[in-house]
Amino acid sequence: MIYILGGSGGIHIAYKLSRDFNLPIIHLEYKTFPDGEKYLRILDEVSEKRVIVIQSMYRNPDSHLIEYFFLVSTLKELGAKEVIGVIPYFPYARQDTRFNPGEVVSLEIVAKLIEKVGTDKIVTIDMHLHRYHDIQELFKIPAKNLTAMKELARYIKSHYKLSNPVVIGPDEESEQWAKVAADVIECNYDILEKKRISPEEVILSPREVNVKDKDVIIVDDIISTGGTMAEAIKFLKRQGARKVICACTHAILAGDALSKIYRAGAYDLISTDTVPSPVSKVNVSKILYEEFIKYL
Ligand code: R5P
Repeated sequence: MIYILGGSGGIHIAYKLSRDFNLPIIHLEYKTFPDGEKYLRILDEVSEKRVIVIQSMYRNPDSHLIEYFFLVSTLKELGAKEVIGVIPYFPYARQDTRFNPGEVVSLEIVAKLIEKVGTDKIVTIDMHLHRYHDIQELFKIPAKNLTAMKELARYIKSHYKLSNPVVIGPDEESEQWAKVAADVIECNYDILEKKRISPEEVILSPREVNVKDKDVIIVDDIISTGGTMAEAIKFLKRQGARKVICACTHAILAGDALSKIYRAGAYDLISTDTVPSPVSKVNVSKILYEEFIKYL
């Protein structure tokens, strides 16, 4: 038997898992003191149990991380037999190397701490693996990176009337997701070439893509400031794209990202619920159950 414990960043996914797949919940009391410190109390017996801790670490990653460390460490101290970390949105993944002298390589430290507190296995969804080819290169414990791209593409295929569709990835890295989405939608895919100027600004190299009079589906792992998506939409519209539908796994949507994307001419934008937002249409609990939990 596997038990589910949702931290404050994963409670929405934990309850959907429990509701849809009949998995028992370990309840948690959670408070924040006036000075910002956290009070956490695990309300059910965990001794000898296998427990999944779900914590999606969006928007306030440090707070979610510290809560995760407290929970895993306490579960182990209280005798849990196995603790499996499910981190649908994995933070700090983009700082995976030292770009400038003296920089903190945050991803490596986060990974080490996750292991150190007693996590036995780790699972994530569409983690931004840039310089790592496989999540297992980052962790010594068993680690798995699932994808939500099939489900996002299925949603698009069944909810929009697509005419002459093509899938576009906004940069080289997104080719892996473009391929999966194109396979589901049964169409071709292509990618653009992106150069990042600053955290908010990107430029796309002028390059011919065959989108004229086609409905375009742009897929990416993360939308953060919305700069990449907005530039891609404008670029593809200039090349004659008809409807442009955007899909991403993690809709961080910092600042006015959502309005930036619609202003750029998006017909619609959808994401999963790894980061709850007004565009979260695909529920990742099904992916987690079907691709991982049912095999535990
Ligand atoms: C980067 O390579 C990622 O795949 C995304 O394209 C990027 O994180 C999106 O960021 P933003 O929305 O700030 O352009």
